[in-house]
Amino acid sequence: MYKQHLKDLISLKYRHKTPLAFVRTFGCKQNENDGERIKGILSGAGFSFCENPENADIIVYNTCAVRENAELKVFGILGEVKHFKEKNPDLTVILCGCMASEEHVIEKIKKTYKQVDIIFGTSAINELPRILCEHLEKHKFICDTNEYENYFSEGNEIVRTSDFMAGVPIMYGCNNFCTYCIVPYVRGREKSRPSEDILSEVKNLADKGYKEIMLLGQNVNSYGKGLSEDIDFPRLLRMINEIDGDFRIRFMSSHPKNATKELIDAIIECDKVCKHFHLPVQSGSDEILSAMNRNYTAESYLSIVNYARNKIPDFSFSTDIIVGFPNESEDDFVKTLDLMKKVQFDSVFSFIYSKRSGTKAALIEDKISDKEKSERMTRLLSLQREISTEHYKRFIGKTLTVLAEEENSEKGVVLGKSDEFIIVEFKADKDVIGNFVKVKITGAHNWALIGEIINI
Ligand code: SAH
Ligand code: SF4
Ligand code: F3S
Repeated sequence: MYKQHLKDLISLKYRHKTPLAFVRTFGCKQNENDGERIKGILSGAGFSFCENPENADIIVYNTCAVRENAELKVFGILGEVKHFKEKNPDLTVILCGCMASEEHVIEKIKKTYKQVDIIFGTSAINELPRILCEHLEKHKFICDTNEYENYFSEGNEIVRTSDFMAGVPIMYGCNNFCTYCIVPYVRGREKSRPSEDILSEVKNLADKGYKEIMLLGQNVNSYGKGLSEDIDFPRLLRMINEIDGDFRIRFMSSHPKNATKELIDAIIECDKVCKHFHLPVQSGSDEILSAMNRNYTAESYLSIVNYARNKIPDFSFSTDIIVGFPNESEDDFVKTLDLMKKVQFDSVFSFIYSKRSGTKAALIEDKISDKEKSERMTRLLSLQREISTEHYKRFIGKTLTVLAEEENSEKGVVLGKSDEFIIVEFKADKDVIGNFVKVKITGAHNWALIGEIINI
């Protein structure tokens, strides 16, 4: 209903005949998918896209609030944008994503970043045409952080970054309230998407030849709550696995408290699902896990890993770990290192704890120094380098199926990922990008496997 009206307003306002939008997304895969949907809406309104924000008529920053440095980066960039706006007063600057739902951010923007014209919250993506119309008509600052129900934007255009790897949201929001985490406050409560809509999006992507489908959500393995159908995540995986096509299925992220044997069985039995589980553990100390409100123990985590490895010895696990949660003792930290040794993760994404205002952990008085935290981080990284180097050797001599993703023209190699989510480097023509190739593994770095392509 706003479409034609928006097109008319845009043609009056902007300097380019086909107006240009610059969209930059920060943060996780889910936010990247939101960015692609924002681009879809802008494209539907008549915008083309540019790579340089200085040329743009409209700039969108789709932000992340998970750690303080993510936010500082955006404030730094907004400082630069002020100069673009001085040169081109018709420029529209939009801030959305997770930071846009934080009270302290909104206050700061209103007070000191007057170059921002529009702020909208994470559930308001489909409201963008209306919000933009209102801004262009009334020439006023708009801040819309209401919670909207129509999050999943069925039927709207999506401008995808890749033509062979696609994210598909299956649930939105989070109910877990881990004590360190801002996500439940900025993304609202968990909502699952009806399976019919998920299946139709995946089918459509498979028909277009997409090779990797990543199912997205903050806690995908609690999928199904609140839907009128009788479904859970293992059943959803099995249904998606039935869709015809030459593609593989990944999912991100899962919570250990919902990691059941049924889920492991489904991963193992579904031929399209990668035998890899990204299962954030956060800490190996039960006391810290309890202070984090994670609702599992190091032992229950290990029992899931062992269940999978008893069935498939090469089953790959990766994880997220927070170093330096308030008052984490040396003993707690050593328990994390012990768990890493026991699990033998293929990769670990580690973060120094960042205090997020509004969360429960932000109220704890922390006695551990920053120096101690960064020393622990160094120890953790060095242990993981050893583990990866050793653990990757199990693949030498084996042939893996790799999805070729990008070229490194300086080194003259192509990089892709194996089923296990491990980076594989091999010499090949860049034409292989976007296809599955068989690569015989001949060696390993501590961050990747090296191999030779054996067919195209
Ligand atoms: N919902 C997902 C992802 C959450 S954010 C999950 O539960 O796995 C991704 C990772 O960021 C988390 O797993 C955690 O390791 C890290 N993280 C979240 N809040 C953080 C904080 N305040 N400080 C440091 N790392 C944090
Ligand atoms: Fe944050 Fe925990 Fe929810 Fe993940 S599960 S988004 S870490 S509150
Ligand atoms: Fe960041 Fe929001 Fe994702 S806080 S990690 S972009 S859910």
